Amino acid sequence: MDKIPLFEQIIDELVTDKFAVVDSFFTDEELVLFRENLLQKFENQTFKKASIGTGTSKQIIEDIRGDYILWIDETQSCPTEQLFFSKVNTFINYLNSTCYVGVNETEFFYALYPEGSFYKTHYDNFKTQNSRKFTFLVYLNQHWQPEHQGELVVYAPEKAITITPTFGKVVIFDSTALPHEVLPTTHKRLSITGWLKG
Ligand code: OGA
Ligand code: MN
Repeated sequence: MDKIPLFEQIIDELVTDKFAVVDSFFTDEELVLFRENLLQKFENQTFKKASIGTGTSKQIIEDIRGDYILWIDETQSCPTEQLFFSKVNTFINYLNSTCYVGVNETEFFYALYPEGSFYKTHYDNFKTQNSRKFTFLVYLNQHWQPEHQGELVVYAPEKAITITPTFGKVVIFDSTALPHEVLPTTHKRLSITGWLKG
């Protein structure tokens, strides 16, 4: 298989640090489409208040997370979402064939954090399951300013990394290992978030 430098960079960072941050995963044209799609779906009021836990322990807890989400069904996806999945799936195939990680399923959602919301420190796996292998995030915030805050903080072993959610930034990290949080945002904060599972 031909080497793809961007994917090699992500894999190197994942192997060294359990997380990777890159800026050029999607093109600007794609990112604008993703953002418009998210905003249009939010206006159509199809988003739901995010909850925590699973099954009967599922709860909406304002003190823990304040975002609104809409799950994306890959089988019902629109052309814009197909662009998204096509790139993500190319990456997954590369990851599987070079690192044998056995990713065979994904789940993704649009997320909107209204002003003042946050997501306190958590792991991305439920206590009873460990099927989420990698967390994958792409931020869709044009003209994000430092005073907007809303940083992602990833607590990697021995260091905490603070990541500004600027337009097009992709963050990938080991869902089984790294606790993380979203600091309170002072500005509407948009992303597509999901997991590579196996
Ligand atoms: C999550 C999460 C981080 C972010 O949705 O589980 O940790 O930066 N999101 O939006
Ligand atoms: Mn998380």
